[in-house]
Amino acid sequence: MIVVIGAGIAGLSAALAAAGDKRVGAEGLTSYGRAQVAGLSGEQTDDVLLVCKDELVESNTYHAQGGVACAIFSDDNPQLHAADTMAAGHGLCDRTAVDVLTDEGARRVRELIAAGWHVDRGDDGSVLRGLEAAHCRSRVVHAGGDATGKVLEVDVSAMVRDNPRIQVLEHAFLDDLVVRDGRIAGVRLVVRTADGNAETRVVDATRVILATGGAGRLYPYTTNPAVATGDGLAAALRAGAQVADLEFYQFHPTAMAVGEHFLVSEAVRGEGAVLLDEHGHRFMTDVDPKAELAPRDVVARANFRTMQAQDGRPVMLDVSPMAKENPDLAGFLRRRFPTIDAYTRSLGFDWSKEPIPVAPAAHYWMGGIRTDLFGRTSIPGLYAAGECARTGVQGANRLASNSLLEGLVYGRRAGLAAVRDEDGTTWQPQPFANSEIDGLPVAQDPMELAMPEASDVNGAANLWDRERIEREMWEHVGVIRDHDGLHAAVRDLSGALAVVNDSMPDGVGSKTGSTTYADRITVLENRNLLTVGYVEAVAALNRCESRGAHTRGDYATANPTIAHSIAYRMKGTPC
Ligand code: SIN
Repeated sequence: MIVVIGAGIAGLSAALAAAGDKRVGAEGLTSYGRAQVAGLSGEQTDDVLLVCKDELVESNTYHAQGGVACAIFSDDNPQLHAADTMAAGHGLCDRTAVDVLTDEGARRVRELIAAGWHVDRGDDGSVLRGLEAAHCRSRVVHAGGDATGKVLEVDVSAMVRDNPRIQVLEHAFLDDLVVRDGRIAGVRLVVRTADGNAETRVVDATRVILATGGAGRLYPYTTNPAVATGDGLAAALRAGAQVADLEFYQFHPTAMAVGEHFLVSEAVRGEGAVLLDEHGHRFMTDVDPKAELAPRDVVARANFRTMQAQDGRPVMLDVSPMAKENPDLAGFLRRRFPTIDAYTRSLGFDWSKEPIPVAPAAHYWMGGIRTDLFGRTSIPGLYAAGECARTGVQGANRLASNSLLEGLVYGRRAGLAAVRDEDGTTWQPQPFANSEIDGLPVAQDPMELAMPEASDVNGAANLWDRERIEREMWEHVGVIRDHDGLHAAVRDLSGALAVVNDSMPDGVGSKTGSTTYADRITVLENRNLLTVGYVEAVAALNRCESRGAHTRGDYATANPTIAHSIAYRMKGTPC
């Protein structure tokens, strides 16, 4: 039995692949796959348990708007897509991993469309595409206008539901991984009972695939849903897995600055929207030749700095330039961006008539559990795919709309490898393969982070509610960081985490003192957020440069002598 934790597109793809379902993955792997692992054909299958902490569809994928970037159009090719991905990643992408992403990604998307994914089509039936920041081609396939993730999740989860080899367990939370003799032996879950209470259940499994998504809920302003609390990453850290590049956290430039910080897709700027400061000045033309379509880190920083200069008041997103090609602007916005249109109107804005207030918000984690090209991690039997993994495709800054693609490609690879590895094949640590920044080659050797022991342990740690974690992270580990703030964050988070861990030794799920599922997982989620926030802060403190999404106020430029960061649990450290 293979256990998959998480049901975004990475988890769904992993489950389908492990169960031998050909609808997402009839065509083989790229040459990189064939050369490195013989026999990953998808002919072998296994029974799969797919575990989700909420309902099956609730995931970051479900809320994704813009689309899936893929080189499937006649004016494009995977090499062009790979070049854009590498450029956005600021020297820290792994070239082979990127080639796999763009080459195999195009195949996966074609298959998925053939299998019935309801993408948007023009009157002549051709697949429509959008432009997003830092792409040299319009290559973003979308569905439901701006509801790409929802349509994808619904369509692919239906395939999972009707595959008899996949059992779905909803409302079940990953409490911890079970590791025996250095190998994965199963998972310990907290499961919701019929009356809403919680019970602990241990499931034996020799292979576990983590596809638990990101941790946007570290921050008060985030585009991520409530389930994004870093559970898989934290469990992997506790189990001793290597993680890499956790200092690279992406902030989306344009979330609504009021209400729930709802995402306003980059596709809106792709269609021509511009950003204005409070005086109506279009400031992005001063910052980058690509203006609003500069890479996401550039636009997020510019929005953040502009807001700082106007005492925190939001910047404005103005869609009026779209009226030139779409005289019925209100009708166009309703058709092309139905979700955003409905949300902005629910807040009382008519964006066809007036600019809307937007601000940066936590969006996506580039770093994660270190894997090879098949999702294998440093713990035999443990795999990771999607946002919780660090495969090497995102580098220091993810290119827009590459995340669903990564889930599709690497989720499937992890599922195939998990079946294949019943023979005991394990992760072979691959040297990091970087490119260059500003014409200078980037160093290859990673820095191993020394995880500081807990300091400032005090009884106040149990006062660390979610709001305090979010505040600490936003103020000290946010869009722009510096030594003093990061140092304070490491001290505060490590102290709080040490106290929380002491209060929850082995068997934490049953020792939180709470009986309802909702209460118990809140306690466990807070511990997970403290864990991953602490390691992010340590990694950010150690990276004394600005690169991609990691911006240090005290180190303004990139330093090509610094490569990747890796971290893992060490004796006496609190993670
Ligand atoms: C967006 O629609 O702007 C988000 C897409 C992404 O995160 O790649």
